[in-house]
Amino acid sequence: MIAVPRYLAETYWWAYVHPGAVRLFERQWLVNLILWGNFGRLRDAALEALGECSQGRTLQVACVYGDLTARLARKTAQLSVVDVLPVQLDNLARKLPADASVELVHGDSASLGMPTASYDRALLFFLLHEQPEAARRATLAEALRVVKPGGRIVIVDYHRPHPLNPLYWPMVGILRTLEPFALDLWRHGIGEWLPHEPAGMKTSRSFGGLYQLVTITV
Ligand SMILES: C[S@@+](CC[C@H](N)C(=O)[O-])C[C@H]1O[C@@H](n2cnc3c(N)ncnc32)[C@H](O)[C@@H]1O
Repeated sequence: MIAVPRYLAETYWWAYVHPGAVRLFERQWLVNLILWGNFGRLRDAALEALGECSQGRTLQVACVYGDLTARLARKTAQLSVVDVLPVQLDNLARKLPADASVELVHGDSASLGMPTASYDRALLFFLLHEQPEAARRATLAEALRVVKPGGRIVIVDYHRPHPLNPLYWPMVGILRTLEPFALDLWRHGIGEWLPHEPAGMKTSRSFGGLYQLVTITV
């Protein structure tokens, strides 16, 4: 039995859990608006950072509204997507092209059922900011566990903008109101939540100054 994490049921029911949420948010223009017009750039940067995916196994940790997974499926030999909400996996199954071969896995990112070192790479796209610290740490530990040594983890998520960025204070208001754990990513580097030092880690911050892309070599 895989339980719905409390932060999803209590904080994010309106975005992911309620069937009406899926109907409302499964619109790429809306996700793009929420990301201040950066969805396409962030999606493409994540796909590029994953590198060559035609060999080996790729894991996407958590579903994403929009066409990220369909594009990832096109460049991967074997893609698995794990999500804790069946409603999100059902939505993904509906929107993927009929010829896409993607394994959909019902599971919790904080306690993955996959064997150790069973993937060559993993993608976490705007997941960590939704999680309280304990779940975030467990998710990162699990990603490091299931990706093989020498493999790659790509993370895209919020990052603190420069205080003079015109979106600084609007974002403080939005995140404090709707996404209570997200400001942790403004205060701390993702490396602080890893269980051990990885072989390599590179962070790039651009995308209007609001987001970061982290590439970890396991
Ligand atoms: C990746 S995040 C946010 C993505 C982005 N905001 C978007 O545009 O969709 C949303 C997904 O994470 C999933 N999720 C949240 N916590 C999870 C967990 N502990 N394990 C697996 N999936 C999780 C939710 O069910 C939801 O499908």
